[in-house]
Parts: sequence; C-alpha cells; structure tokens
Amino acid sequence: MAIARRSLIKRSAGALTLAGSGRLAHAAENLRPVVVIGATGRSAGPIIAQALEQGRRVTGLARRPERLTIDHPNFTAARGDVYDIDSLSDAMRGDEVVISVIGRGLADVDSEPGYVDLYSVGGSATLQAMRRKGNKRIITMTSGGTEQIPPAKPTNGDPSDEFVWRHRNVYGDMQRWERILLRSDMEYVVLRPRRLIDGPIQNNLKLSVHRNHAAFDERSGGHRSSVTFADVAAFTLAQCEGNGYLGTAVGIYSDVYLGALPEASKD
Ligand SMILES: NC(=O)c1ccc[n+]([C@@H]2O[C@H](COP(=O)([O-])OP(=O)(O)OC[C@H]3O[C@@H](n4cnc5c(N)ncnc54)[C@H](OP(=O)(O)O)[C@@H]3O)[C@@H](O)[C@H]2O)c1
Repeated sequence: MAIARRSLIKRSAGALTLAGSGRLAHAAENLRPVVVIGATGRSAGPIIAQALEQGRRVTGLARRPERLTIDHPNFTAARGDVYDIDSLSDAMRGDEVVISVIGRGLADVDSEPGYVDLYSVGGSATLQAMRRKGNKRIITMTSGGTEQIPPAKPTNGDPSDEFVWRHRNVYGDMQRWERILLRSDMEYVVLRPRRLIDGPIQNNLKLSVHRNHAAFDERSGGHRSSVTFADVAAFTLAQCEGNGYLGTAVGIYSDVYLGALPEASKD
C-alpha cells in the first residue's frame, strides 16, 4: 500500500482542522508534545525538526545533550540514559508522547554483537518512567530485521539475511522489547523500518501492519529496499495523534532498491 504524505496526515485526524475550501491545516495547539529518546541519533534529527515545524513542544533526551545544537523556544534538551529511570522520568511531564529511537550506533556491519539488552531493559525503564509520570503513548523503533531472524547461518547469499544473522542478538533484543510492549498497559506503535537513508521526503512508504507482531515469523516485503529518515519521521509524528496503528508493529519499506548498503544505513 503506497502511503502519500497527505494520507498519513489524514490518519491523524485529531491533529488537523479543515480550513476554508477543505484544505488540511495543522492545528498546532492540538498536537501533542513529544519526548524524543535517543535525540542525538540519525532518526531523531528529522523527527525533532519536523515536530518543531509542526509547533509541538519537544524534549530531546540524550546521554550527551551538549551535542544537541537545536536553538528553538519549544525545544528542551535533557540529559538521560535509558538505563536510568529517574533521568527518564525527570524529562517527562506526563502529557507527552514518548518517541524512542535508541540504537547502538553505526557498528561495523561485519561485526557479530554479543548479548544486547538496550531495547528490552532500556524500554522497560522507559515504560516505568512513563507510568511514574502518567505518559500513555510510546512510539518506538525496532527494525524490519526483527520480522524473521534466520534460524541458522544463511547460505542463500542474501546480504540482508546475512546481516540479520550476524546481528541476531540485536534483533533478538528488539523482539524481547516488542513482547514487553505487547503485554504492557501502554498505547504503543512499533516501527520496523528497512534501510534508512538521508534525503528529502519521497512520499513512497509502503507499510505492512503486523497485528500479531510478536510472532516474528514473516518477512513483510521490501527487505532490501530503503526509506528516508524524513519519510519515517513524518509517519512517526502522525502516530502521535492517530490511532490506526496502535498495538501493532508497522513494517516500513519502499520500492526503492539499493543494491549496496548505503553509508547511512545498516539494517
Ligand atoms: N539506520 C538504519 O538504517 C536503521 C534501519 C532500521 C532500524 N533501525 C533501528 O532504528 C533505531 C534508530 O536508528 P538510528 O540509525 O537513528 O540510530 P543511531 O543513529 O545509532 O542513534 C541511536 C541513539 O540512541 C542513543 N542511545 C544509545 N544508548 C543509549 C542509552 N543507554 N541511553 C540513551 N540513549 C542512548 C544514542 O545516543 P549517543 O549519541 O549517546 O550514542 C543515539 O542518540 C535503532 O535501534 C536502529 O537499530 C535503524
């Protein structure tokens, strides 16, 4: 299903007003504030920029907030670590949608990481902090790689399968995190993008909605495609008000195939 930006916006109808001749216009006062966890990361940049453009109040939580050079009256930088519940709850007021785009950085694509608990433990701490402050909604990014981790080292020569296999401990922890969310009391949307690249909005997202998302037994398509950080940011922010994808994991891909792994991408 090709999703144009306009239809993404329509899905978040609560955030919009119909102005004049039916033109859609944002009603900034109806847009929820957001706390972006992982604010120094590549996904976070366009999310924060677009959220500020929309008129939202934005808090960016980072281990090193001094790296955030955003100068905007609606932006607050907060120091925090997802392993530290107090630092997370200190950054929340209770009315924000939490957007968690934490990750492990640009690892060597040929590496084979050992045990990972960033997503499951950091995610659980985030939920604890949200309960403490009364935040109800979280939008979190895992990856298309969670959809199917090969049961054994692949021999089909597919570089994506080989990448997912080498990073099975990362995707395995993303799966743990998704299971935690499934059993949680939160409104959530899991985003599972395929390769993310820099560039302007393309309006070319294809979505695959996984309602039984903890089954992890299907690859939804486009596993060698790419999507821009900007398009995924727009979709992410639309979920702050929209209810259409609550309680699901959304595979996000496109028809744009990139044969080689682009520099800004790893999975
Ligand atoms: N990039 C892709 O192609 C792609 C595709 C599909 C899925 N994903 C997944 O999507 C997520 C976001 O990707 P990305 O490329 O935007 O990631 P990224 O650029 O590596 O950013 C990750 C962010 O998480 C932060 N972080 C790490 N550990 C933390 C901790 N303990 N407490 C607080 N913050 C912490 C990092 O902060 P520091 O600056 O302090 O390190 C950084 O800001 C990742 O989980 C990634 O695996 C990425």
